[in-house]
Amino acid sequence: MRVLNTIKDIRTITKEARRNGKSIGFIPTMGYLHEGHLSLVKKAREENDLVIVSIFVNPTQFGPGEDFDSYPRDLERDSKLVEDVGADIVFSPSVKEIYPSGCSTYVDTDGDITKRLCGASRPGHFKGVTTIVTKLFNIITPDRAYFGQKDAQQVAVIEQMVRDLCMDVDIVSCPIVREEDGLAMSSRNTYLGEEERKAAIILSKALSSAEEVIKEGERDASKVSELIVNKINSQPLSKIDYVEIVCDKTLEAIEEIKGGILIALAVKIGRTRLIDNVRLEVL
Ligand code: PAF
Repeated sequence: MRVLNTIKDIRTITKEARRNGKSIGFIPTMGYLHEGHLSLVKKAREENDLVIVSIFVNPTQFGPGEDFDSYPRDLERDSKLVEDVGADIVFSPSVKEIYPSGCSTYVDTDGDITKRLCGASRPGHFKGVTTIVTKLFNIITPDRAYFGQKDAQQVAVIEQMVRDLCMDVDIVSCPIVREEDGLAMSSRNTYLGEEERKAAIILSKALSSAEEVIKEGERDASKVSELIVNKINSQPLSKIDYVEIVCDKTLEAIEEIKGGILIALAVKIGRTRLIDNVRLEVL
């Protein structure tokens, strides 16, 4: 496996792959990889000739006061992990390589899809995501790109962007990978202290309770939201950012639980903001 840092070098590889009729699978990441990321690499390995993983902590998707500087970074560890599950190339550019001085073009998907949920508490976040993902797609020219469903809103925004800009890439969304106790895997889980780590399972527990009452027949979204809010608030280390029940495609709020729905939440445990969600098909 090779680690490449420049656009020129990665393009030499991808152009040759294209000339030889090889398919390219791409997994964009910000590094500090866990089993969730590795599940994407494994899936890409099954479906493509060439598998490329990018590792780039993208400054434009972090707001002022967020954790860009402290975001965990360990390229050596990450490279070994993805090599073990069959990646061919790691692309790990510098910030200057991706955003050279004078760079002034951004990609911004408009509307509720980027303004609600995480977009409400992290203004500008999705503009940073769509900009970096567009740049990476232009550099790598993947046939398929793999994203984790834990970032359900990110997947919806990227799918919208791909449709709107007629991008020739299939977006493959893969299931959330969880720790044994239910906590959704995230690079940010490393911020949690011992007590916070225990407290953090309240997110998946609240989602499971919601799923249960829906299975038992509850169809009133506000009642299900209330149940989740009460459950999370019972954990003293937690502070809710949002709890939303929305249509899984448009991310518009719903009153009646019916069809494809997404229950999404963002909760601070101590100083660490965690997200989780569950997607359901309700008759
Ligand atoms: O999900 C992430 O890790 C990031 O948002 C992504 C897609 C790699 C863009 O920086």
